[in-house]
Amino acid sequence: MKLLILSCLLAGCLAQKPRPCSSPPLLTGALAMSTQKENMWVYAKYLYDEMGQRIRLMERGTYENKTFSYDLLLLYREATVYEIHRHNRTCNKMPLKGVFQPMAIPKDASLLGQVILGSSSGPGEGLLVNTWTGDLPEKAGKFMSTVTEFGCIPVSTLFHTDRFGWMVLSYFDNVIGILDPQDLIPPPYCQHCGDEGR
Ligand SMILES: *[C@@H]1O[C@H](CO)[C@@H](O)[C@H](O)[C@H]1NC(C)=O
Ligand SMILES: *[C@@H]1O[C@H](CO)[C@@H](O)[C@H](O)[C@H]1NC(C)=O
Repeated sequence: MKLLILSCLLAGCLAQKPRPCSSPPLLTGALAMSTQKENMWVYAKYLYDEMGQRIRLMERGTYENKTFSYDLLLLYREATVYEIHRHNRTCNKMPLKGVFQPMAIPKDASLLGQVILGSSSGPGEGLLVNTWTGDLPEKAGKFMSTVTEFGCIPVSTLFHTDRFGWMVLSYFDNVIGILDPQDLIPPPYCQHCGDEGR
């Protein structure tokens, strides 16, 4: 028995080698972000729709000691971002630059390792995760992403770019699916809003 366990440890008879994976195409949850150079903290609720290329971010944060809050609906297919002010029912509509990046570990990422966050001593105490590193698109910098082994749920991502220094994103309270689909559609009062910056 001991020999079997030992050979399992050495050869990894249970563990399959982790593979790059894609996160679920619909996610709702929360995230915290901080950047090194900009001295910024953000806490956001997010909704993520890969097929529709839509993201909603309801965020509050501090930037250089000042607090701010933003409510953004990013519609990549329409290359449009809506800045929504729910309190006075107004909107700013702006062009959205950039390409939609699905939440996934790119195929050319390198596995840094598989670990258990928390503890493996008892049920519910630990979380099996894989950490990957690689280059950002267009050599913009490097990333290090941790996702759960089961389900490929994002846990954290570190980016390094010259512009922002280190940027850390932690995800939590994720659920698969979109809890409120209305949140991914511009509210009615956005239909008549001004096209700023166009
Ligand atoms: C932010 O607040 C801290 C502590 O009050 C102060 O030392 C620092 O200079 C402030 N930074 C800015 C950018 O205002
Ligand atoms: C609505 O609120 C936003 C954010 O506080 C503000 O910038 C905007 O001017 C307000 N719009 C109107 C019409 O009051």
